[in-house]
Amino acid sequence: MSAARVSPEPAAIGSPTLHVGVFDSGVGGLSVLRALRRHLPGARLSYLADSAHAPYGERDAAFVAERSRAMTSVLVERGAQLVVVACNTATALAIDGLREAHPSLPFVGVEPGIKPALAATRVGRVGVMATSATLSSERFRRLLQAQAALHPSVDVALQPCPGLARALEQGPAGMAQVAELAQRYARPLREARVDVVVLGCTHYPFAAAEIAAALGPDVTLLDTAVAVAQQAARLAANLEPLAITDASTTLGTTGDPQALADIARAWLDFPFDVPPLRIDT
Ligand code: DGL
Repeated sequence: MSAARVSPEPAAIGSPTLHVGVFDSGVGGLSVLRALRRHLPGARLSYLADSAHAPYGERDAAFVAERSRAMTSVLVERGAQLVVVACNTATALAIDGLREAHPSLPFVGVEPGIKPALAATRVGRVGVMATSATLSSERFRRLLQAQAALHPSVDVALQPCPGLARALEQGPAGMAQVAELAQRYARPLREARVDVVVLGCTHYPFAAAEIAAALGPDVTLLDTAVAVAQQAARLAANLEPLAITDASTTLGTTGDPQALADIARAWLDFPFDVPPLRIDT
């Protein structure tokens, strides 16, 4: 009797796709990844959380620039053709240096949605919640100045939120502290009677319910995840697809992969892989 031959599984066949890299100081950029997955349904997405070094928002510019370079190098080594800096703080402090270091690699950054907020306010008062590093950056100062010049009658209240990104890094376990910090940072904005609040850190959409509850029902929250994903899709349309065929989503971290997987399971509604090895850089 001859032995049965078992044919190997045929290789997965699909159309060539693009490879988009995404990084944040930690899990906050998952709010941008959600929008990217919807706007680039056929792309391979590689996400890096620098959770061992989060939060960036309470560090100096040299540290954030150095970590952003390290994250970008890992994404480039993995074959990313476009990099989304899914972090307002890294965009404010590091994206110019990244563009200089990688002149042929397209980058998309994230900035607080000042422009839509100033256009949306009905009472002429807007709040911005972001990290201390973003709010005190030169890039943010220029953005605010340019937009304020177009809407001279609108007042803008800036609210740094130290500790909020760090609490969100704990995932569901940190939500009691998130609610407490949301109350603390919403109070000055309530007193300023703003009707629009910009979530100027990619972590904060995961605290949107707590922030909305603390601000009250008449305040609209804005973040820029969809606009960023649309911009990435526009740039991706000019790239040459690679000879890879999967539209997978892979998440890596310099912190604990199991913790990242647990948080991503709670926050993402599409399939993803989290390889068990932490990224050592
Ligand atoms: N998620 C980041 C941002 O958008 C930074 C939070 C942090 O690491 O402090 O600014």
